[in-house]
Amino acid sequence: MDWLQDEQRAVEASLKVVLPPADSWPERLHQAMRYAVLGGGKRIRPILARLAYAAIGGDPTDIAEAVCGLELVHGYSLVHDDLPALDDDVLRRGRPTVHVAFDEATAILVGDALLTEGLLVLGRFPRGDEWAPRRAAAVELVGEAISSRGMIGGQMEDLEAGGQVPGPSASADDATRLELIHRHKTGALLEASVELGAVLAGVDGDRRRRTARFGECLGLAFQVADDVLDATATAQDLGKTPGKDAEAGKLTYVTLYGLDRARAILTELGGEMAELAEALEGPRGRLHELAQFVVRRGC
Ligand code: IPE
Ligand code: IPE
Ligand code: MG
Ligand code: MG
Ligand code: MG
Repeated sequence: MDWLQDEQRAVEASLKVVLPPADSWPERLHQAMRYAVLGGGKRIRPILARLAYAAIGGDPTDIAEAVCGLELVHGYSLVHDDLPALDDDVLRRGRPTVHVAFDEATAILVGDALLTEGLLVLGRFPRGDEWAPRRAAAVELVGEAISSRGMIGGQMEDLEAGGQVPGPSASADDATRLELIHRHKTGALLEASVELGAVLAGVDGDRRRRTARFGECLGLAFQVADDVLDATATAQDLGKTPGKDAEAGKLTYVTLYGLDRARAILTELGGEMAELAEALEGPRGRLHELAQFVVRRGC
């Protein structure tokens, strides 16, 4: 996958441009926003949108800035997820989390500002009247995905299931609950990222639905792999503190099913994604390669 690094570099370059300059007012906030977003991160979400757009025949440079909206929104979700009131993590991408490197109040505002900036970027790019309907559809797609009915709903249920906030705790139907959490807290934005490629390419109907279906599968697989890595990887490899899920009493694929079954589920999802990707881009395309990369990380 030689192309992955080139894609990451392209996204990194666009992110540097769309983020407010560090020396512009309010400097401390802008510095912290750039700290949160730049220098690390796999950039999976914008890359997925670029690949889905390319699979439909588009040139990803058309949407270089727009897809950064996904990464800004993702960055916000990480900064808030790491806060002491949520997962209380001190390490992210191999560096101190934003509330440690700066302070908690600044980290809350960084999240607020990155969320706003992410939606603004989607509303603004690509520029030009001819893109206006696609920009509007993009804002609606991503806004819905990260709403209380999407990512934030998943975060709420994740906290309830782990007992960090009052709410229903463990139940007989934990398997259904766990899938609901993962499809929302992580799956919703990843699904929308792939679907964004179709929306920006102006594709609707069956093709858009099939694109979304691949993204949905990848979204679930991504969080299953994240659960496995939390239980197996080193801080060095992960850039995060491992073992946090078990320690916090989180409901995850590893805590519910054990490592072997979690990996088997991931492999099954890999097979499903291979078929869905082939229907979108033919055999062995880049969406397929990225999906297998996600599976391999956890297996
Ligand atoms: C981490 O996302 C949080 C989850 C949704 C599992 P990533 O694994 O994409 O994190 P970065 O952006 O590469 O650091
Ligand atoms: C994060 O899930 C989901 C969101 C940030 C929306 P996790 O809490 O498992 O992610 P990590 O492990 O901290 O990256
Ligand atoms: Mg979390
Ligand atoms: Mg977390
Ligand atoms: Mg995790």
